[in-house]
Amino acid sequence: MLNVKQVSKIYEGKVAYRALTDINLKIEEGEFVGIMGPSGSGKTTLLNMIATIDEPTTGEILINGKNPHKLKKDKLAEFRRRELGFVFQEFNLLHTLTVEENIVLPLTLDGKAVSEMKRKAAEIAEILGITAILNKRTYEISGGQAQRAAVARAMIHSPKLLLADEPTGNLDSKSSKDVMGMLQEINQKRQTTMMLVTHDPQAASYCNRVVFIRDGRFYSEIHRGDNRQAFFQKIIDTLSLMGGDGHDLSQIRV
Ligand SMILES: Nc1ncnc2c1ncn2[C@@H]1O[C@H](COP(=O)(O)OP(=O)(O)O)[C@@H](O)[C@H]1O
Ligand SMILES: [Mg+2]
Repeated sequence: MLNVKQVSKIYEGKVAYRALTDINLKIEEGEFVGIMGPSGSGKTTLLNMIATIDEPTTGEILINGKNPHKLKKDKLAEFRRRELGFVFQEFNLLHTLTVEENIVLPLTLDGKAVSEMKRKAAEIAEILGITAILNKRTYEISGGQAQRAAVARAMIHSPKLLLADEPTGNLDSKSSKDVMGMLQEINQKRQTTMMLVTHDPQAASYCNRVVFIRDGRFYSEIHRGDNRQAFFQKIIDTLSLMGGDGHDLSQIRV
């Protein structure tokens, strides 16, 4: 489904900055993969390149065997709209619209019939438990509800790949668990492939596999198995082995 091949990213500027080095990552159809690493380790950079928001300096990214970076501008916009779904830390809802209007926005862009939009919105809102707030404005709902609306909007056109960057970053722990539980449910019910970037071990524990990067390089990966609590502990252990903020533990120990 997703194949990241030997990807490196250098941000050019007054001082060139190497954000990623030789990243290889394969994600199979239906997988739910978390990307973790200390702040500044290159997680968002990686996600943005897969999201086709940014381009690799070297290496190649294939989504369903195609390299979207080779598409012309209008084809790329269409690819992004049809195949990908995005969820960010900021919910990015439009405040002048209702929750339902926000959710169907991607379909509006594709010129779908209103009845079809309403039907799809109702279906996805049901899964996300936001049916009761469809007619509310975005300032009348909680952060957790706003993020669920954002997930609904990202899912309404049944993308093949859902990309989420710190989706629980602005949520309290209860809302965060709700949102992650729902992403997990959508992943299982619709077999949507998901990639989640997060520094929150609790959120990452809902994934089937977590890939750790440090200083822009692959560090390790772990698989979940059936026990989320045990996986959560394994994630914490790996993070503490890695050391926070790019510092090596060997530098801290005397
Ligand atoms: N547009 C940019 N120009 C220059 N440097 C950048 C840019 N975006 C990110 N970086 C740098 O690349 C590194 C990785 O950033 P990022 O991918 O945002 O990390 P993370 O999401 O893991 O916190 C950081 O050191 C950051 O300062
Ligand atoms: Mg980031």
